Amino acid sequence: MAKLNMNNEIKKIEKYLQQAIKSNDKVLEEAAFHLLSSGGKRVRPAFVILSSQFGKGNESYTNRVAVALELIHMATLVHDDVIDKSDTRRGRLTISKKWDQQTAILTGNFLLALALEHISYIPDQRVHSVISNAIIDVCKGELFQFQDQFNSQQSITNYLRRINRKTALLIQLSTEVGAISSGADEQTVHRLKFIGHYIGMSFQIVDDILDFTSTEKKLGKPVGSDLMNGHITLPVLLEIRKNPEFKQHVAALTPNSPKEDFNYCIDVIRNSDSINEAQAVSDKYLNKAVTLINSLNNKEAQTLFNKLIQKMSKRNV
Ligand code: IPE
Ligand code: IPE
Ligand code: MG
Ligand code: MG
Repeated sequence: MAKLNMNNEIKKIEKYLQQAIKSNDKVLEEAAFHLLSSGGKRVRPAFVILSSQFGKGNESYTNRVAVALELIHMATLVHDDVIDKSDTRRGRLTISKKWDQQTAILTGNFLLALALEHISYIPDQRVHSVISNAIIDVCKGELFQFQDQFNSQQSITNYLRRINRKTALLIQLSTEVGAISSGADEQTVHRLKFIGHYIGMSFQIVDDILDFTSTEKKLGKPVGSDLMNGHITLPVLLEIRKNPEFKQHVAALTPNSPKEDFNYCIDVIRNSDSINEAQAVSDKYLNKAVTLINSLNNKEAQTLFNKLIQKMSKRNV
């Protein structure tokens, strides 16, 4: 295979994404373009392309999968923002805020349907069953998140199960289906699936840490949004276990609590060691991914893979 230039590959995917959202319905197209053009790290397409390097290669299938997974990701973001009633995403107004909630829901459905259309050309049945099952699980993850809102009693296992569903699965899908799309052997597909799982777990834990430690400017939404939405994440769960006073404060939070009560809890977390402890959990997952990456059979792609995940783990957005 020719030497891989990730920047060029992602540029190509970018162009396909812009073509993909073209529609004769201008509102849907504009709303989708509003999100597409607001940036985003394009992590999932990058993992699809990297994972495809461990097979025989089928560029056209791999590109279709890369486009489809970014579209599915975009659909989940749009719906996630409706569920969370978020006003901003990637530093811009959300679709609900700029248009209205109906438009946001329909845009999410539109993006999801576009994704399915994109992969409908791929004959390998595994691609379709793996992707549809993952979408079902992402829905479950979001539903559980909704049910767990403001539940300070939940276990860490519960948290890990939830982030597996809502985030890790889509990254696992990128590595697994990326490998399948290029005709990788079964053992390689299996390893890449687990690599994606570990990366995905680490990725969401970092996302949950950044929600406390980053800035509004970088996050594109207010610091502490998760807690304000009642999403109890790993740093909070770790702190609750050590700090009974904090536990009482979190247990008392409701959607109607005054802003100061949230700010108090957010400040405790920002200044606590629970941030480092959560980071250590994330690193553990990442190390598992690295061990598996090192067992693969394409040195050049392995190096790029390791580079990308190191960059991801040090990201600040
Ligand atoms: C945000 O995903 C939602 C999570 C699953 C953490 P990303 O951090 O990949 O979002 P963008 O696409 O780069 O904005
Ligand atoms: C979103 O995770 C995961 C899905 C969209 C399914 P978050 O709720 O952490 O995403 P952000 O932080 O709002 O981007
Ligand atoms: Mg959210
Ligand atoms: Mg988040």
